[in-house]
Amino acid sequence: MNIIILGGDGYLGWPLSLRLAQGGHRVLIIDNLLRRKLVASCGATLLDLPTPQERIDFANKRLGCDISFLEADASEADLGAVFSSFKPDLIYNLAQQPSAPYSMSSRMAALQTIRNNELSNMNIIWSVRDYDPRIPVVKMASFGAYANCGIDIECGYFKPEINKKKVSQPILFPMSADDIYHTTKINDVQMNSMACREWGMNIVEVMQSTIFGVCEEGLSGENALYTRYDYDAMFGTVLNRFILQAVSGLPISVYGTGHQRTGLMSLGAAVRSLSSLTTSPSPSGHRFINHVTISDMSVLEIAQSVQASARKMGIQAEITVGSENPRAENVQRKQTYGVQSSIARKESIEAFFPEIATHILKRSAFIDPNMLVPNVSWGTPQTAKPVEPARPVRPHRPAAGFEGLQVVGGLA
Ligand SMILES: NC(=O)c1ccc[n+]([C@@H]2O[C@H](COP(=O)([O-])OP(=O)(O)OC[C@H]3O[C@@H](n4cnc5c(N)ncnc54)[C@H](O)[C@@H]3O)[C@@H](O)[C@H]2O)c1
Repeated sequence: MNIIILGGDGYLGWPLSLRLAQGGHRVLIIDNLLRRKLVASCGATLLDLPTPQERIDFANKRLGCDISFLEADASEADLGAVFSSFKPDLIYNLAQQPSAPYSMSSRMAALQTIRNNELSNMNIIWSVRDYDPRIPVVKMASFGAYANCGIDIECGYFKPEINKKKVSQPILFPMSADDIYHTTKINDVQMNSMACREWGMNIVEVMQSTIFGVCEEGLSGENALYTRYDYDAMFGTVLNRFILQAVSGLPISVYGTGHQRTGLMSLGAAVRSLSSLTTSPSPSGHRFINHVTISDMSVLEIAQSVQASARKMGIQAEITVGSENPRAENVQRKQTYGVQSSIARKESIEAFFPEIATHILKRSAFIDPNMLVPNVSWGTPQTAKPVEPARPVRPHRPAAGFEGLQVVGGLA
């Protein structure tokens, strides 16, 4: 197949591109490098990544892949011209600004997130509509966009019954968000729903839970092929940050009470599941996948699971609870949820801990503890409490057995 991956230079997009190319597909990555630029300006990452072209050349040469790269902004590029020349059979849209804290950090960041995410989605679906509306589009959405409203979360559409009357046709499951990034995902769902109804398009909405891990399989230890691992308070995701804190001798910092609930999925499982869409029957209309393999854990339970896994490797990690929650979340609304129709496979944090911990420990000299401290508070200027200053951290103590490891980031 000829496959376009918009956002293929990102945390998820790069291993997905590699897997699809290793499976014999011809892959075109379109990316404007927004993630690299934002992390360079206000984030922190473990790896010194090669340029996109460097790592693509490396993959094509060493792994026999057929990957090409176009640096372009999905929100304004003439994608129709690209489609006419590349002739895609399948399109993945991962090209979004995915940080909720970043989207809430300033007026300009809010506007940038809306423009980037919503205009990209519209440019992509409109261009597919004009080129060939039958081409399937896989859109990365977010599990966090679902409203946790006291009933099990159905897969996208459902048929509620009110006053003993059932709706005549399935309607979208309620969605609601506490931040601008997730709200852009909700708005995209509405646009995609309209495009499938009115233009006969085929869009799979992947309701992605929080991804964690490193997905080393098939990389043969080649540093040049690893995906990014961002750990700062703006772009790092919860479990990746907790594991990094635990193995770096830093306290695992749980915001607020830790009763917020979330779903998780390993990077490897997400990549395998997304790449399997090349062999599943073409979607018709607007379809949803609830992409979660570890469902309904509280943030405190996640921290405790990391602590227990660390202990098995001889690492004593401390958990701190009760600091101001900069996310101003409505914890009541996130008390608990059931999941309908998620993918079948189940995973555990414990099973992945050693691989991720080893990955981090090899690169621990890159870690700047100050970058883990949240610096965005989401309330209004009237209600927001100042974010706590950085706590003094314990000096970094590598776990037993890892004392001699040195930084090995960058090109192999
Ligand atoms: N990582 C997670 O835990 C998670 C959870 C839920 C949903 N998602 C979604 O999955 C997708 C991939 O997430 P990720 O973690 O790999 O994020 P990422 O930021 O690493 O990847 C997104 C990529 O898209 C690119 N991009 C952004 N805007 C673009 C534009 N206008 N034109 C071209 N390229 C653009 C970025 O440069 C980046 O390389 C995103 O849509 C994200 O919202 C991720």
